[in-house]
Amino acid sequence: MNQTSVLFLCLGNICRSPLAEGVFRAEVTRRGLAGEVRVDSAGTGAWHVGEPPDPRSVAVARDNGVDISQQSARRLVVEDFERFDWIVAMDGDNLRTARERQPKGAHARLVPFMDYVPNAPGRDVPDPYYGGQQGFAHVYALLAAGAGPLLDAVIAARGA
Ligand code: 4NP
Repeated sequence: MNQTSVLFLCLGNICRSPLAEGVFRAEVTRRGLAGEVRVDSAGTGAWHVGEPPDPRSVAVARDNGVDISQQSARRLVVEDFERFDWIVAMDGDNLRTARERQPKGAHARLVPFMDYVPNAPGRDVPDPYYGGQQGFAHVYALLAAGAGPLLDAVIAARGA
């Protein structure tokens, strides 16, 4: 079967997208697709490059049985638009920035994560950086709700 690949994108790559990467990878593994779906994350900004995820993201992931502590932040690079089949943006700002950087005719399919959350409460996975742990729990809940539907779409779109 063809391999497929998904890159999660946020602003800093320390709060939302590392958690999205971990939650989605857990769903991929749960379904026995670990060898078939490559998962990564990146940020549009460079402030936190090389840093591990925010301790609040690490904590909410750990509370739900997912270890994201070994991840390291990196910035979105133009090659990502060829290396990945999907780039999944956490919010409208991330989506807009990615569109601006997307080369003409780029390969990657660029989508908002919230398109895959059933009964989505809005268009954005809210940035939890300046809030408390509660915001991270909310982000986790959105990511957990959308991971399965997103994986369904990724598998359905994969070349037969
Ligand atoms: P993220 O959250 O985009 O979910 O990783 C943020 C992390 C850092 C900053 C903003 C948002 N910051 O301003 O440094």
